[in-house]
Amino acid sequence: LSGAITLDPGFKNSGACTSEITFLDGEEGILRYRGYSIEELADKADFLEVCYLLIFGELPTKVQLGEFETHIRKYTLVNEEMKNIIDGFPKTAHPMGVLSALTSALIAFNPSAVNPENKDELYEAVCKLMGKFLVIASWTYRKSMGYPLNYYDNTLGYVENFMQLMFKLPTEPYKANPIIVEALDKLFILHADHEQNCSTSTVRMVGSSHAGLFASVSAGISALWGPLHGGANQAVLEMLEEIHANGGDADKYMAKAKDKNDPFRLMGFGHRVYKNFDPRAKIIKKAADEVLKTLGVEDPILGIAKKLEEAALVDDYFVSRKLYPNVDFYSGIIYRALGIPTDMFTVMFAIGRLPGWIAQWKEMREKKEPIGRPRQIYTGYGLRDFVSSDKR
Ligand code: SDX
Repeated sequence: LSGAITLDPGFKNSGACTSEITFLDGEEGILRYRGYSIEELADKADFLEVCYLLIFGELPTKVQLGEFETHIRKYTLVNEEMKNIIDGFPKTAHPMGVLSALTSALIAFNPSAVNPENKDELYEAVCKLMGKFLVIASWTYRKSMGYPLNYYDNTLGYVENFMQLMFKLPTEPYKANPIIVEALDKLFILHADHEQNCSTSTVRMVGSSHAGLFASVSAGISALWGPLHGGANQAVLEMLEEIHANGGDADKYMAKAKDKNDPFRLMGFGHRVYKNFDPRAKIIKKAADEVLKTLGVEDPILGIAKKLEEAALVDDYFVSRKLYPNVDFYSGIIYRALGIPTDMFTVMFAIGRLPGWIAQWKEMREKKEPIGRPRQIYTGYGLRDFVSSDKR
């Protein structure tokens, strides 16, 4: 660890937490998972390795990784009665709302309360969630398309499985494009954890009451759905498509974003912590170029995104407020090129973020953190006497 640190006594009641999982430096644009740089992990690791690293603290040996994948495969069957639950949703239901509900519903079929002191129980719950989450995430899409629901194929890798779960039709053979699998694997790594962001803080807060892992992650999914957080990747694409539909005038939308009387914000720009470039955005931008070139996709949306980025990087309003492209700015362009529908973009974010949520929940419970209880500064009325309704 980077040297012993002494915490200010007030720290404990500040609502902040200590964590050994992810380090980020917003000024320097640094992001590390368990000490490894995001650049190295995105370039040299695969997503399941990074899941193991985040959750258990070390990069796995080949044997450990093999055992982890074997244990996940033990639990990839989702109880058939879960289909009765998803059948209750209209096809128009947003996939994030369905995913949050199905994740919570998993508790009914996997009632084991998770006592983190019981290492086997905890390991089983982690592997169950890792295995079933991919399946129920794909069901949200299949349901919206009116397609039959697919099952995990234990002969395929984790990320390749997601593609077959999403796109395999019973009427024809399916083989995932390895370029797409590789691009998705990298995208999931880039989304895997991000310290105490809104949805992760939600998972820790809910878990601090000793609510179970599945219930805590279900709450995190709802927090991620918001357009200021993970929902931004869908909002970015909708914004770019609107600009494209209105003639591609990026400057007009830049002006709207700067107009304080206009609620419009440039989606995919700005960050609570990064006041420099989001290191993930740099990697995703490069991947977007590579994927579109390799797949031979000419996407005018990418051209508009680059115009917006170039304009914002020299515009005083954005530069003075340190508003740079974030992880969501380019990810939607790749998802679109990979054939992922727009309303599934935030579900993709949730699949990537799942190991981070699990790791942070596990750390919080293993450290026996107290129940979350943020304090407030009261700004309401002082004491006043009751007034009967006929005198109000
Ligand atoms: C994620 O926390 C995480 O780590 C999150 C995340 C993760 O991996 O978990 O990184 C993922 O959520 C990335 C962010 C995705 N959201 C968006 O792209 C939505 C658009 N961005 C903004 O809404 C905003 O930038 C936030 C919410 C991301 C950050 O908000 P802040 O830091 O609270 O910024 P602010 O609201 O205090 O704004 C500061 C100024 C304001 O102007 P002034 O009052 O100073 O005049 O910057 C302006 C804001 O109006 N501003 C923007 C803007 N973002 C901030 N103006 C136009 N467009 C924008 N996008």
